[in-house]
Amino acid sequence: MSSIISSRSRRIERSEIFEMLARAQDYDDVINFGVGQPHFNTPEEITDYAFDQAKKGYTHYTVNAGDIKVRRAIAQKLQSENDIEADPVSEIIITVGAIEALFLALMVLVESGDEVLLQDPSWVNYEAQVKLMGADPVRVPVKEENNFALRAEDIERRISENSRVLMINSPNNPTGGAIEKSELLKIAELAHENDLMLLTDETYEKFCYDIEHFSPGSLRKYRDNIISIFSFSKVYAMTGWRVGFAAGPAEIIKEMIKVHDSVGLCTPSVSQAAAYKALQVDDEVVEEMASTYRKNRELLVEGINSIDGFSCIYPRGTFYAFVNVKDVSQNSLELARDMLDREQVVTVAGSSFGEAGEGFLRFSYANSRENIEEGLERIKNYSRNYLD
Ligand SMILES: Cc1ncc(COP(=O)(O)O)c(C=O)c1O
Repeated sequence: MSSIISSRSRRIERSEIFEMLARAQDYDDVINFGVGQPHFNTPEEITDYAFDQAKKGYTHYTVNAGDIKVRRAIAQKLQSENDIEADPVSEIIITVGAIEALFLALMVLVESGDEVLLQDPSWVNYEAQVKLMGADPVRVPVKEENNFALRAEDIERRISENSRVLMINSPNNPTGGAIEKSELLKIAELAHENDLMLLTDETYEKFCYDIEHFSPGSLRKYRDNIISIFSFSKVYAMTGWRVGFAAGPAEIIKEMIKVHDSVGLCTPSVSQAAAYKALQVDDEVVEEMASTYRKNRELLVEGINSIDGFSCIYPRGTFYAFVNVKDVSQNSLELARDMLDREQVVTVAGSSFGEAGEGFLRFSYANSRENIEEGLERIKNYSRNYLD
């Protein structure tokens, strides 16, 4: 008998991250390095403004593309911070997180059987979304010795006549790697020469360490080939509000708005109000969070490197560290489960993000210093007691 569930849905599986988080619920005293979100609450002035707007009646649908006032504020941000020129009327859409922007872009750009190039390892939802479109992900591995930065020459080797889209994400989840401007220029040129649409996911743009963030969307000569995707989730500690946006060629944004209308109609108005306020808060609010992550990064990396069998390079962005465990395990999923069962420390197996992630564990250091210190202590015990 044929399945009642579509083959499209059956093409994807639930992420192992959720399995780990569900497993963690069996324990009381867990140190969680697994969750990919800020440990800060949304800055109060943002929440206050949004609630106030809602109380005043800003509770209705907005137009599909998002409130024009918010789109105008986004256009200004793109101009002043990213050097991206985007017309707020025709070249910007506000979405339910960056995740919806990515989904809409793929819906509009790829056919079944097309190939989408993406990094290995990469955020789990990339591959899931590509598969839901009926398209095929083609993985481009990154290496620890290159600071996990994607390279144009490695992408080039995997381009075929079926390639349609190239998805990049710098700074990167899960590796914490970031791509240098000079390499991003080569990648944008490569996409242009090969008629690939470049989806650049800049969700973590403001969490860069020892490297300056660069937006490929600022390259005017390639603007017809680039969709820039941003999120309020991580930068402003607003994961639960679900707001992101995309900027790109009017012809594509128009199609994305059409699909968005059939998926969610519009991004919740109260969340759009919060996003509007977020764009006005003092830079210091975000800088303070970034500074905490930078300090946590040092604490975690130095701590990990002092433990037998574990090693870690300094991530150049985000709040993730990709910890090398090849000396102690060939199976990162088993190791992650065992560390949870024995020491109640949650991490995510690198293999969850793609084959090239095997031999690594992803740690999020968006956590309190006390928790990071306690977690490191437990891993030290684990290494001493359970590893040869
Ligand atoms: C690389 C990357 N892109 C996009 C997202 C989704 O962000 P949003 O909450 O805006 O949908 C995430 C969330 O973890 C992410 O890591």
